[in-house]
Amino acid sequence: MQILDGKKAAQAIKDELKLDVAQLAVEGKKIPHLAAILVGNNGASETYVAAKVKSCEEVGFKSTLIRFEEDISEIKLLEKIEELNSDPDVDGILVQLPLPKHISDEQVINTVHPDKDVDGFHPESVGRMVQGLPAFVAATPYGIMLLLEHYKIDTKGKHAVVVGRSNIVGRPMSVLLSSNSPYGNCTVTICHSHTKNLKEICLQADIIVAALGRPEFVTEDMVKEGAVVIDVGITRVIDTSKKSGFKLKGDVDYENVAPKCSWITPVPGGVGPMTIGALMKNTYRACTLKN
Ligand code: GUN
Repeated sequence: MQILDGKKAAQAIKDELKLDVAQLAVEGKKIPHLAAILVGNNGASETYVAAKVKSCEEVGFKSTLIRFEEDISEIKLLEKIEELNSDPDVDGILVQLPLPKHISDEQVINTVHPDKDVDGFHPESVGRMVQGLPAFVAATPYGIMLLLEHYKIDTKGKHAVVVGRSNIVGRPMSVLLSSNSPYGNCTVTICHSHTKNLKEICLQADIIVAALGRPEFVTEDMVKEGAVVIDVGITRVIDTSKKSGFKLKGDVDYENVAPKCSWITPVPGGVGPMTIGALMKNTYRACTLKN
């Protein structure tokens, strides 16, 4: 069994970007600028946004963090997005999800200008990705593709089973793995809460992407010997022995599944860092496409 080390692969991406940014500076060109919006005080979202801002610093991007109270109105939030859309210094806009219930995710996603949609959530970005056109691809599935590329995992003709059909992970993942591209060309099955015989389907998988958000859902009896297992789950589970009061659990029962795998991602340190690497790549692209 070998580890798909997302921390290491993401560092390689950031090192490369750092050189690219230094080159932009040498050429007197614009440095990428990411604007991140965080609404409320969700602990996990705070951690993710802080990590994104820190990564911007590491690679030499400019970043702006805009915070709003939980009770901000939808209209005020949309106005801020419009302001960032028309700010020529801002290349990428990210609104951290989930948002409070009184704000429509759809309205927010549709308001971000497609040229600044570094999260790849806008319908235009999704449509372009599905058609195989150059596009901003959502950070988690894009990060997983970059991880497969980093470790040169052979995907051609393999059966990939994606568990979870969310707009931000499962569905785009299924499209990318089936696309006619170097780390695509899989035969893909997408499973969800109404899937019958989930265990039997997973047992046929050469590659499993677990993205349903249920800790340790994928167990040893669901995984074929030699499979590649990608764990997208990152749920906070109470652990009083930890200073933070919680530990992070993936969607895969790592301890028992790992010995059966050819490759597996750890949690943390697998998919998580890659999503940030992917976001950094999207932000660089947003900047250099325009300038
Ligand atoms: N919440 C969970 N994942 C993501 C992501 O990739 N982008 C944003 N904006 N919010 C998220």
